[in-house]
Amino acid sequence: MDMMPLVQGACCSNQWLAALLLSLCCLLPSCLPAGQSVDFPGTAVDNLVVRKGETAVLRCYLEDGASKGAWLNRSSIIFAGGDKWSVDPRVSIATANKKEYSLQIQNVDVSDDGPYTCSVQTQHTPRTMQVYLTVKVSPKISHISNDIVVNEGSNVTLACLATGKPDPSISWRHISPSAKPFESGQYLDIYGITRDQAGEYECSAENDVSVPDVKKVKVTVNFAPTIQEIKSSGVTLGGSGFIRCESAGVPSPAFEWFRGERKLINGQQGITIKSYSSRSFLNFNNVTEDHFGNYTCVAANKLGTTNASLLLNQIIEPTTTSPVSSPGQYPHTPPKYAWVLSPSLCLSKE
Ligand SMILES: *[C@@H]1O[C@H](CO)[C@@H](O)[C@H](O)[C@H]1NC(C)=O
Ligand SMILES: *[C@@H]1O[C@H](CO)[C@@H](O)[C@H](O)[C@H]1NC(C)=O
Ligand SMILES: *[C@@H]1O[C@H](CO)[C@@H](O)[C@H](O)[C@H]1NC(C)=O
Ligand SMILES: *[C@@H]1O[C@H](CO)[C@@H](O)[C@H](O)[C@H]1NC(C)=O
Ligand SMILES: *[C@@H]1O[C@H](CO)[C@@H](O)[C@H](O)[C@H]1NC(C)=O
Repeated sequence: MDMMPLVQGACCSNQWLAALLLSLCCLLPSCLPAGQSVDFPGTAVDNLVVRKGETAVLRCYLEDGASKGAWLNRSSIIFAGGDKWSVDPRVSIATANKKEYSLQIQNVDVSDDGPYTCSVQTQHTPRTMQVYLTVKVSPKISHISNDIVVNEGSNVTLACLATGKPDPSISWRHISPSAKPFESGQYLDIYGITRDQAGEYECSAENDVSVPDVKKVKVTVNFAPTIQEIKSSGVTLGGSGFIRCESAGVPSPAFEWFRGERKLINGQQGITIKSYSSRSFLNFNNVTEDHFGNYTCVAANKLGTTNASLLLNQIIEPTTTSPVSSPGQYPHTPPKYAWVLSPSLCLSKE
């Protein structure tokens, strides 16, 4: 992108060029004392806005086919007549007809931003034309926080940095049905994060150049398990049935089952245990009187442990219990028709 120094022009034989160069020197802001610029009366000014990577065509027209022109950058001569002074391969003269003397810059970059001057030789005084080239750049997120795992109650700061021209504005969105909007900015602070605030956060960087750039960060909020429900399917003697235990917790809780004080083992005493991320099933394949008793579901993760109990009792209709330890006691001589669970009905039986 270097420009050849001005003195090389001295070797050119064209007389007009020597004269032109003298006048061009005055057009170059770099020839002036630092900090000064010149305004030429009668200079036409044009603005051209292009996106980075596009081809810019800075229009300029000669008086007629015989006249000459020159293009100047902020600090250098790019073209003088048909002679290319710039070593930048992206730069050329576009001539659709004899009069056109437009400057074409391919694959425009931000550094090309700035004023360009076309100087046209006329019979009397040179005519100049200034084109201000503005290079715009699409928004691009250059950095976003990594996915994080925190405990409930922590303070969380998410960062999202973006580039673009003009500077993109940055906004955050919690991808959740109940999400409320946040103030825009590079940093999103969440004080005392709750489990409801877990999930994906979307950063959007936006300017007027193109579509916003969007990236996501996932926030995992750990919390100790709670048991929402312990419930039986209703079991009949000689039939099958199960007790279901529902627990929320992050990380997903591990489940254990107890009958009284005794821990239950999968596959023993006609019981199978199937556990998933948020629920566990205690299955009875063939219900006998021995299955009668007080069952406790224990859900645990690294942040805590909780349990809930349920009394497998002799009741006709199946019902639900609340997730608390089941009160009541079971009769000694149950009738043979059904085994179900319900502490409330159990109590009303007495
Ligand atoms: C214009 O000048 C700037 C700085 O002098 C340079 O970085 C840029 O490449 C030049 N552009 C063209 C099209 O010559
Ligand atoms: C969270 O930030 C608040 C306010 O800055 C501070 O008072 C509190 O101690 C912080 N909590 C934690 C867990 O760091
Ligand atoms: C259930 O258990 C009883 C008593 O042990 C047994 O007689 C019966 O055959 C079993 N039923 C099934 C379907 O396994
Ligand atoms: C259930 O929770 C209670 C109260 O925290 C505790 O005392 C009890 O030992 C727990 N039971 C089991 C089986 O973990
Ligand atoms: C069932 O077991 C739990 C935990 O061991 C206990 O808190 C509860 O009182 C028991 N319920 C009955 C009815 O025995």
